[in-house]
Amino acid sequence: MSELDQQEFRSVLGTFATGVTVITCRDAEGHAAAMTVNSFASLSLNPPLVLWSIEKTSDQFDAFAEATHYAVNILSESQQDISNHFATPGTDKFDGVDHMSGHQNLPLLPDCCGVIECEIVERYDGGDHIILVGRVAATQKTDKKPLIFHGGQYGALR
Ligand SMILES: Cc1cc2nc3c(=O)[nH]c(=O)nc-3n(C[C@H](O)[C@H](O)[C@H](O)COP(=O)(O)O)c2cc1C
Repeated sequence: MSELDQQEFRSVLGTFATGVTVITCRDAEGHAAAMTVNSFASLSLNPPLVLWSIEKTSDQFDAFAEATHYAVNILSESQQDISNHFATPGTDKFDGVDHMSGHQNLPLLPDCCGVIECEIVERYDGGDHIILVGRVAATQKTDKKPLIFHGGQYGALR
């Protein structure tokens, strides 16, 4: 098999348009953690399962390794700033960011397209990432339009 061109690999992955989420949790001490994520995907309807993957080198990794639950905040087209904020390494990501408390005290963001609250039921190794499978416990939905990510850039539905 020929050697994979890393740049082209990244580039071809970028041709797959996705939504953008901020996934939140509480670590073992109850501190809030969160990060911007576009690896989110639906997995199963019955039982209701979703998944996403976290890079093993992320500063948020330990928090999600300890967490029992996570919330998927599906960002709307007006939330590009929120996406950038939660994609930037920093000490307290919730400092000055409006949020509410969901089940298990999970931080939930306002003005999203939807929110999916989950219990973590499986963790799988995935190369330089870990796949976190969540069983859906609660959902909220609005009619807002989604924020889109494609080719390393934000966009919106036409
Ligand atoms: C649109 C977008 C999607 C991202 N998706 C993921 C992802 O699925 N998994 C992941 O580990 N990091 C993802 N990241 C990167 C993290 O958001 C970022 O590395 C991290 O939050 C930086 O803060 P930290 O070092 O405190 O973790 C994404 C970033 C952006 C802008």
